Amino acid sequence: MTESPAPPHAGDDEALRGRALAALLTARERTTLLTDSVDDHDLTAQHSPLMSPLVWDLAHIGNQEELWLLRGVAGREAMRPEIDGLYDAFEHPRASRPSLPLLAPGEARSYASEVRGRALDVLESAPLGDGPALVRSGFAFGMIAQHEQQHDETMLITHQLRSGPAALTAPEPPRAVDAAALPAEVLVPGGPFTMGTSAEPWALDNERPAHQRDVPGFVIDTAPVTCGAYRAFIEDGGYGERRWWAPEGWAMVREHELGAPLFWHRDAGQWLRRRFGVTEPVPDDEPVLHVSWYEADAYARWAGRRLPTEAEWEKAARHDPVSGRSRRYPWGDEDPTPEHANLGQRHLRPAPAGAYPAGRAPCGAGQLIGDVWEWTASDFLPYPGFAPFPYREYSEVFFGPGHKVLRGGSFAVDTVACRGTFRNWDLPVRRQIFSGFRTARDL
Ligand code: AVJ
Ligand code: FE
Repeated sequence: MTESPAPPHAGDDEALRGRALAALLTARERTTLLTDSVDDHDLTAQHSPLMSPLVWDLAHIGNQEELWLLRGVAGREAMRPEIDGLYDAFEHPRASRPSLPLLAPGEARSYASEVRGRALDVLESAPLGDGPALVRSGFAFGMIAQHEQQHDETMLITHQLRSGPAALTAPEPPRAVDAAALPAEVLVPGGPFTMGTSAEPWALDNERPAHQRDVPGFVIDTAPVTCGAYRAFIEDGGYGERRWWAPEGWAMVREHELGAPLFWHRDAGQWLRRRFGVTEPVPDDEPVLHVSWYEADAYARWAGRRLPTEAEWEKAARHDPVSGRSRRYPWGDEDPTPEHANLGQRHLRPAPAGAYPAGRAPCGAGQLIGDVWEWTASDFLPYPGFAPFPYREYSEVFFGPGHKVLRGGSFAVDTVACRGTFRNWDLPVRRQIFSGFRTARDL
């Protein structure tokens, strides 16, 4: 029982340099679109106390890049030591960031692009193959590209929370081809599998190392739970029945008088939702989005089911019963293409349940990667043998029962920050994120 061998680019310096360059450029293209599509007022405003002003994300992206690529890899002096504290996420909670003396939009843009120019020079000559751990296999460059893309997802959430007319548009995702013919659920037989990775060069610390897990047989939904299915829970009075809810979830529902996913409202007997500045009917066949862990957990109980554990999710997504290996993605070891999954903000919504037949796992489950982040039953905990790298604040300080794990990535996640092993986490009350879920049951 093992994982797939390291991908072919992993030991090839020039291939890694090319991938790092492409990943950095793709991220900056997205950052530029997200920050150039609104005016200076929208860039500096706080659209929700849960979020930073967009201009904070922009300068923080540049500051992290300076910290890790210029100072960390190349040993350069700080460019603007007086701003470091402003962009340290641990010094200032999000709600307090608008009152800081932040760089103005023009200054933030030129700071980020100056850092980038220097970082590309560093990349040209960095000893990727035999350098210290931070640069080996281009890790620091991959980490910084992932960091920027993670903030690009955060900034897209800010766009969703912002009021006013649409600032972004994108083509519609593909349709489902054979949705009616798909079974509702699929079987994953019991037995050990390899969870996590020791082979993926840009995997982050919390995905490491690869280790064995024994997972008893279970059944899991073929697709994420749809808006139509979730509406049945609402219409059956699900938000009014204490028995479906974890105690803290019930308290959340009562305190905030919740009755539907975030951004939904009822008008003349019809469910509508607001999505990036446009109000539209809730599409029955699309995976439900903007639900908290408590809502996902309550729906599953109402349906006579449960959320999958993180290990179950990863086994469904990666285990190849023929070779016994865990693969990089549900479809195999090949990097994601637009045929496999809805990733990269190419579309600004999930695709209907049953789309992306080329992305299905050997067990038959689809849309595990992309579309919506999927809540799992599991707390965010370290794997056996975990070592913080390169800083404790990326993962380690968040381990514990307070955070629940989400898997698979959403339409807002770029391919560089999405793998079968990638782990995201958040508080169980959060629903502004691009979160959905699928359910499971014991055999
Ligand atoms: C992994 C998405 C929970 O946004 O808090 C960004 C990623 N870490 N900057 C977050 C992250 C540092 C992180 N999540
Ligand atoms: Fe960050």
